[in-house]
Parts: sequence; structure tokens; C-alpha cells
Amino acid sequence: MIPINKKIILGVTGSVSAYKSAELIRLLLKEQFFVQVVMTKSAKEFISPLTLQALSGNPVLENLWDATEGNGMEHINLSRTSQLILIAPASANFIAKLANGIADDLLSNICLARTCPLLAAPAMNIEMWQNPATQRNIKTLKKDGGIVIGPEYGEQACGEIGLGRLINLESIILQVQKFSSEQIFKDKKILISLGATSENIDPARAITNFSSGKMGINLAKAAFILGAEVTIVTGRVDEAIPDVFKSVKVLNHKEMLATVSRLIDENQIYISAAAISDYLPSASQKKIKKNSSAISITLKRSEDILATIASKKAIFTVGFAAESENLIQNAKEKLTSKKIDLIVANLIQETMGQSVAKVTIINKNNEILDIPKGEKKNIAFEIMKQIHFNYSKEVVNEYYS
Ligand SMILES: Cc1cc2nc3c(=O)[nH]c(=O)nc-3n(C[C@H](O)[C@H](O)[C@H](O)COP(=O)(O)O)c2cc1C
Repeated sequence: MIPINKKIILGVTGSVSAYKSAELIRLLLKEQFFVQVVMTKSAKEFISPLTLQALSGNPVLENLWDATEGNGMEHINLSRTSQLILIAPASANFIAKLANGIADDLLSNICLARTCPLLAAPAMNIEMWQNPATQRNIKTLKKDGGIVIGPEYGEQACGEIGLGRLINLESIILQVQKFSSEQIFKDKKILISLGATSENIDPARAITNFSSGKMGINLAKAAFILGAEVTIVTGRVDEAIPDVFKSVKVLNHKEMLATVSRLIDENQIYISAAAISDYLPSASQKKIKKNSSAISITLKRSEDILATIASKKAIFTVGFAAESENLIQNAKEKLTSKKIDLIVANLIQETMGQSVAKVTIINKNNEILDIPKGEKKNIAFEIMKQIHFNYSKEVVNEYYS
């Protein structure tokens, strides 16, 4: 990752979902953030400040009038030394205060005095959320530059079902990371295909592969954090998909081809990280009976989606080569035959289904870069940085040619 700013204020307000802020602190610390918790008086009814102090490793602040700071102006000092204010959960009442510039406690004063971005993750009952007053306040908050994430749809603490739940914590973390990372892909749209496709043999059986989709999802997260607008086209994946991306689910090669072809024109970069069926069976309409000791299935070569896109569209294309041997040679051949801009090569036995990967990146000029073995999460950032470097070179070359 390319971290710029790491100190954030986590504002916790009076919502029944305040207990989730404990887990949120843990996740923020895992991503190397320094977290200063500031609570409202109501928030303390829902979770103990001691819990949040123990988890964040810092005393929790609440009192506007606690003049321990030299100049007695903690609300100004805190907002100047932090790079981001995250209000999670944000109560309807607190959103109303934000929208109307009300500053009657420490947290609302910090927000009003801020010079850094403010992210608010609302959490409330569906009727509170839908109330025209709340909607008006949300609109005003956005107009004033606040960033609102969520809420999401689902079962609520009160037993009702609808929009109003605190958005999942992973999406909050991704948004926070985005605001503390260099936005090298700002204003860029990236399409990523990922996961495994599956081809029916008959209505009950299919041919698929062992791709977990982990690398693709990590690439999508890295691209999002680095500022891109990300769309993913996803086959079967073993991981949860964060809802910060536009995402389209597909089953097989045919759907993958149709979806990628439909979406490609809106994007500047296409990364094909999906394990797409190279051979397609002709599917039987009825379930194949097991009355013979052996059957044979004829497989037909499928159209190469990445090569098709690269040949038809003026777009920066990135492919993956998962090989069991002759890694560099095979990857170079793929790069040339598919006419793509960059290839990321890895050995299947070192990568597939695992959380770690070791990759080699080769560009059109045959420049080779080895990325040492590491967590797929970190490797994804290295790959995205190389994509950015090579894409930028390409754009400059086009400009001067
Ligand atoms: C049990 C209970 C749960 C509540 N849950 C929420 C909630 O999820 N979201 C919300 O906006 N308000 C909720 N409220 C109401 C707020 O706590 C109340 O509006 C409070 O004044 C908010 O204060 P604050 O914005 O200063 O934190 C709840 C109240 C109670 C009693």
C-alpha cells in the first residue's frame, strides 16, 4: 500500500450498533491506523468507553470542557492533527447536527472545526432513515463535502427489515484506506474479471477449476483504495465481495464474454484475473444416466476473451499466466499472442487457492520484474503500482506519437 496519513478520529454516537465500533477499531489497527476515539454522551449508554480505550490503546475523549490541553481547545487541536474523521455509527441526531452546524459537544465541535475529510456511516431504524428530515440532512451533509457510506439493507435490531443497518465493516475500512492512500488511479475506471467459471455438462454437473478469486478481489480492493472506480465481473469466488465495487456475477464463459464486452467501453484498463474455461463441453439437456461404465465428453476450445478484447478495443489490458512449468517463456508467449500490454505470471503450485503468491510481471518491452513472495493482499498493491506505471507510460507515448 502507499499510505499517506494514518491518524484518524473515530467518532462513536448513540446507535445500538455502537458495539460494532469495537471490532472496527481492531480492523483499523490491523491496517496500521492510529485511532483516537471520541464518543458522544449517548454512545456511552451503548458501549463502555473503557472497552474502546482498551482496544484503541488511547484514552477515549468525550468532554468538551476537560481542559487538559495547554490551550484548552482540544476540539481544534484534535481536528488539526488528524487526517480523517470517521463517524461510525452515525446516529440520525448526530447527522442532523453535522448538517446544521450544531456544535454542543466535543465530537460535534471537532467536526465543525475540521480541515480534514469527514466520513459518516449512518445506522438507524428504517423509518428514521427514510424520514424526510434525515434525508434532507444527508443531502446537505453530502453537499457540504461529507462522505456518506451506507447504510445497508437487512434485519435491524428493532426486528424490522430494511435500509438502515451500519454498512459492513470491511467497506468502511476500504473507504478509510482510500482516504489515506495516494490516489494514483483518480478518475480512472478499471474493469476486473475474476473467479472461476463453470460449464454445465448436464443440468446437475459441471466442469470448473480451483481458482478462489482471492487475487482478483485483492486487486479490486487495491485499485479502489488507490482511487479507481472499479467494476468486477465475477465467476465463483470463495471470498466475500465488498460492496464498494460495482459487481456483476456470471456463471460461465458465455456470460463472462457477454458481460465483459458490454462493460469494456466504459473503462480505461481491463485486468483479466478470472480462471475462464478454455474448453467447453456440449451440455446435455437431460441428466446423463450412469448406465455405462465409461463416457466421453467432447470439449471445444473456447474464444479467448482477453485476446478478443485486446484485438478490438483501444484499452490497456492486463492478463495472468498461471503455469505449472516454463513460467517466463509461457508468459511471454501469452503476452505476444494475446497482444496485451502486461502479464502477471505465477506458478500454480505456488499460488492457486493460497493466501500468498509470488509473481513475475512482464511488459510489452520484455522488461521483467520479480515481486517477492508475500500475502496476496500486498502483492495486489505491487501489481496495481506496476499497472499504473506501465499504463501511464503508454498514455504518454500515445500523446507524443
Ligand atoms: C435502545 C436505543 C437504540 C437506539 N438506536 C439508535 C440507532 O441505531 N440510530 C439512531 O440514530 N438513534 C438511535 N437511538 C436514539 C439515539 O440514541 C438518540 O437520538 C440520541 O440522542 C443520539 O445522541 P448522539 O447523536 O449525541 O449520540 C436509539 C435509542 C435507544 C434508546
